[in-house]
Amino acid sequence: MEVWIFILSGVLLLQPALTTPPNIILIFADDLGYGDLGCYGHPTSLTPTLDWMASNGLRFKDFYTTAAVCSPSRASLLTGRYQTRSGVYPGVFYPGSRGGLPLGEVTIAEILQSQGYETAMVGKWHLGSGLNGTFLPTRQGFQNFLGVPYSHDQGPCRTLTCFPPDIKCYGTCDVGEAPLPIFLNEEIVQQPVDFTTLIPMYLEFSKSIIHKAVDNQKPFFLYYAAHHTHYPQFASAKYTGTSVRGRYGDALAEFDGSIGELLEAVRDNGALENTLFFFTSDNGPETMRKERGGSAGHLKCGKSTTYEGGLREPAIAYWQGKIKAGVTSELASILDILPTIAALSGAPLPNVTLDGYDLSDLLLLGHKSPRSTIHYYPPSIDANIGIFALRVGKYKAHFYTQGAFHSETTPDPDCRITALLAVHEPPLLFDLDMDPAENYNLLNRGIPEDLAPVLNEILQVREDFQSSMEYAESQTNLGNDPSLKPCCNPECTPKPSCCQCKNGV
Ligand SMILES: *[C@@H]1O[C@H](CO)[C@@H](O)[C@H](O)[C@H]1NC(C)=O
Ligand SMILES: *[C@@H]1O[C@H](CO)[C@@H](O)[C@H](O)[C@H]1NC(C)=O
Repeated sequence: MEVWIFILSGVLLLQPALTTPPNIILIFADDLGYGDLGCYGHPTSLTPTLDWMASNGLRFKDFYTTAAVCSPSRASLLTGRYQTRSGVYPGVFYPGSRGGLPLGEVTIAEILQSQGYETAMVGKWHLGSGLNGTFLPTRQGFQNFLGVPYSHDQGPCRTLTCFPPDIKCYGTCDVGEAPLPIFLNEEIVQQPVDFTTLIPMYLEFSKSIIHKAVDNQKPFFLYYAAHHTHYPQFASAKYTGTSVRGRYGDALAEFDGSIGELLEAVRDNGALENTLFFFTSDNGPETMRKERGGSAGHLKCGKSTTYEGGLREPAIAYWQGKIKAGVTSELASILDILPTIAALSGAPLPNVTLDGYDLSDLLLLGHKSPRSTIHYYPPSIDANIGIFALRVGKYKAHFYTQGAFHSETTPDPDCRITALLAVHEPPLLFDLDMDPAENYNLLNRGIPEDLAPVLNEILQVREDFQSSMEYAESQTNLGNDPSLKPCCNPECTPKPSCCQCKNGV
């Protein structure tokens, strides 16, 4: 009897050691739309790596972000919670923002760090920096950070080179802000950033983390928050002039090439079979940049709107030998990434209200998604209004619609800033399977009998969601303090333009 207990407990103890937690590379694109990748139908984009990952992994057709602008979608991705719960609304953070993602929020990095992962981030944070770096990634579970604290247009760019040999950045970006800083952990190592060497620098940093972790037999988590496809586009010499899609195409080609290099690095370290790559984007395309902006493809409008073009995103999961190649129309959201990664790594979920679902059975076993609803918040969240739209199954109802500056210049007048906030009662209702472009309102002539139960269900889901939502104090409404703008040379004058250093990493 005792012998059996011994053997049994021996087996049980061995189990965890046999299943090594997977490495995770989470790639988050910036202002990249549903129609921008070759594998999502773009005719001229050069995205061979992502196309390859899509055809060898799982490509999502119905994947959503939680916000059509940068800061709130990043908060949702990293916490598995709506931005309302963390207070990352309305709008986005600025270089002098007092607020940030509250430190009490539990991020994917913190969850994985406590599981023994080496955690790292490269690229764009945009969840606050604050006094003495209070809100930087290093305070939210990332042991290693190299990147920009906010969007790379939030600093003057008129005199900066975006493409070699010396093609200046297109546009002026935010004149009056500090030159754009690059942080290594909590220290500014370059200000302003050199766009032409930025990606090679990110790659060198990422590869050394991967190599070090594999060498030390530690699992790693790399969050690559790329900012390439955001205005103003940039690329290094290797990719400049390579795409017939112009500057956006060149930037996208470098982004895709950088993912290819990460894939190679993982393969070279013999870790491909134990690494999950997950790719998606923060929000829809900024169509106001015209041919220099992204594309929502078939979908209506883009960035800052709650039409499909604003929040529906390309998404690809690739894990050699573990995820079967295919395409899915199961519903999924960036909110689901934290619970999925927690399940895959064996980590307990944080003791907070989560809004996501564990999709590991969808990824690994081809099961149905546990998710049946998508809630669409506008960028300027007002607790008295709440969500603008709601998808339940294949039906989407718009209770409010509004055009946006970021979606200007699209031929559809509904997308533009001139389309003012409109209340819809009854809501506009679309069948997204038959009409993904949201062209034909099913309630145009009253409520047909067969749709009455659909509408009732949607109204009920909305009521339940809105009445249970808890709004944290807004972090963006805490405002700005010019003295918080990151500066490599704090004693210099006149600020912030004097904040210039060429230290290098
Ligand atoms: C911020 O850092 C500066 C310089 O290291 C220090 O003098 C100051 O006390 C710090 N402020 C806070 C609130 O920690
Ligand atoms: C989870 O949090 C709640 C509320 O803060 C608390 O009452 C409860 O004890 C916590 N549970 C665990 C297991 O820590």
